[in-house]
Amino acid sequence: MNKTFTFLLLVFLGLNACQSDGLDNPLDIQLRNRLNSLSPTETLDYFLLPEDGDYDQIPQDPSNPLFEEKIELGKFLFFETGLALDPKHESGRETYSCGSCHVPSACFMPGREQGIADGGINFGFNGEERTQNADYLETEMDVQGLRPLCMLNTAYVTNTTWNGRFGARDANVGTEYAWTEEKGTAVNFLGHSGLECQNVEGLRLHRLVVNKDITDSLGYTALFDQCFPEFPEEERYSLVTASFAISAYLRSLLTNKAPYQEWLRGNYDALQDQEKRGALLFYGKAQCYSCHRGPALNATEFYALGVKDLYETGVAFATGPDDPRNLGRGSFTDREEDMYKFKVPQLYNLKEAEFFFHGSSKNSLEEVVRYFNTGEPENPNVPETQIAPQLRPLQLSKEEIDDLVSFLRHGLHDPDIQRYVPDHVLSGNCIPNNDSASRIDLGCD
Ligand code: HEC
Ligand code: HEC
Repeated sequence: MNKTFTFLLLVFLGLNACQSDGLDNPLDIQLRNRLNSLSPTETLDYFLLPEDGDYDQIPQDPSNPLFEEKIELGKFLFFETGLALDPKHESGRETYSCGSCHVPSACFMPGREQGIADGGINFGFNGEERTQNADYLETEMDVQGLRPLCMLNTAYVTNTTWNGRFGARDANVGTEYAWTEEKGTAVNFLGHSGLECQNVEGLRLHRLVVNKDITDSLGYTALFDQCFPEFPEEERYSLVTASFAISAYLRSLLTNKAPYQEWLRGNYDALQDQEKRGALLFYGKAQCYSCHRGPALNATEFYALGVKDLYETGVAFATGPDDPRNLGRGSFTDREEDMYKFKVPQLYNLKEAEFFFHGSSKNSLEEVVRYFNTGEPENPNVPETQIAPQLRPLQLSKEEIDDLVSFLRHGLHDPDIQRYVPDHVLSGNCIPNNDSASRIDLGCD
C-alpha cells in the first residue's frame, strides 16, 4: 500500500474516532463538565470503581491486604451453610449463612422486608418466601429490626451498618466510650476498619462457627494456611481470620460494569439520553450528590430523612416502637444530635431490590424519588429538628422524575453480579440456605 494512502486512511479513521466518541451530544458534554466541576481531582476518574482484579485500587484495611486466594476463601465462607453450627434448635443446624439475608440476585438483600437466618425456612426466588421455622419462638429467630444492607461497593464504607457503629477509625474516632460488650461494639478495639471489625461480631451474632475442627472437616484448612501464614496456628482458624477473608471478598464486590461506569470510561453510548438527563438531575437540580458521593454514591455520614421504621411498615418479627435501632446513629453514640439519623447507602443495583430505606417503607425507586421530591417526612416519631434540611420539595416535573429513576434503574445497574457468586461451597451443602424447603426452591434436591 502506498504511504500517502496509508496516511490518509489513518487520518480518516482518526477523524471518525473523534466523531464517534460522542462529544457531539450536548448531554455528554454537559455531564462531563458537571462531573469535572464536582470532582475534587477535577477528573472523571474520581467517580470510577476499580476493575475486577485491580486490587491495589480497592480501598482496604492495611491489616488485611487484598489478594485473590483470600477473596476466594471469603467467597466460600459468606455462603457456607456448613458453618451454621450454633443454631437455637437442632432443625436449624447447617441451614443458613450470611447469604440467607444478603441474597446476591436482590442486591445482596433479602427479597422481603426483613432478613431471617437461623429460625427460618424456605427461600422462593430471592428469599421472599423465607418464613418462621415452627420449632422456633419469635424471640429465638435471628432477625433484626432493620432492613439488611447491600454488600455491593462496601469497600467504600468506612463504618458499617445503618448507624455506622463498626470500625475503629473515620466517623468513629471519639466514640470509644460506646465500644462496649453491651452494644456489641467492643470488637472495635481490635483497631480495624468497619468491615474487618463487624464481620468478627457478625459471624458470632449470626450463629456461625469457625475453628480448626470445622475447617478440617469442611476442607478449608489448607486455604486458611495459604491466606494467613502470618497468624500463629492457634489463631489461624478463627472468627478474626474468617472475618478478614469475608471482608476481602466483600471489598471485591464492585459494580464496575454498570452503564454509567462504562460511560465514565469513555463509552458514551453506554447510557441512553434519558439516563444522561437523569444523571444531570442527580448531580444538579435534585441535589442527590450532596449526600450520595464518590464512586459508590454513598457517604459515611448520617441524616434523618424521617422514613418509617420496620415495625411501622412491614410484617416484621421481633421489633417494635421500643427497638433502639429506630434511633439510628443515636443508639450507638447516645448523642442527642445523632438521634434518628442513618447512614447514606450506596445506590448501585437497586433495580434488583424490592424494599427501600432502613424500614423497608418503599417498594420501588420511583416511590423513593417521589419521597425526596415531596420532601415531607413520613414518620411522626422523628422530631422536625432532626430532619435533614436537604429534605424539601425539589419541584421535579413528571418527566424529570422519570429521567432520574431511569438513571438509577438502568444507568447504575451492573448486569453481571453472578460473577461474584460461587457455584458451590466445600461442604457440598446447598447455598445460601440448606433447609429442606429452601433446597427444593434452590434446585439442590
Ligand atoms: C439475619 C439476617 C442477616 C444475616 C444472617 C447477616 N446479615 Fe449482614 N446485615 C443484616 C442487617 C439487618 C444489616 C443492617 C444492620 C444494622 O444496620 O444494624 C446488615 C449489615 C451488614 C453489613 C454492613 C454493610 C454496610 O454497608 O454498612 C455487612 C458488612 C454485613 N451485614 C455482612 C454480613 C456477613 C459477613 C454476614 C455473615 C457472617 C451477615 N452479614 C449475615 C442482616 C443479616
Ligand atoms: C441529606 C442527604 C441525602 C440526600 C440529599 C439524598 N439522599 Fe438518598 N439517602 C440518604 C440517606 C441517609 C438514606 C437512608 C435513609 C434511611 O433509610 O433512613 C438514603 C436512601 C436513599 C435510597 C434508598 C437506598 C436503600 O438502600 O434503601 C435511594 C434510592 C436514594 N437515597 C436516592 C437518592 C436520590 C435519587 C436523591 C436525590 C433526589 C437522594 N437520595 C438524596 C441521604 C440523602
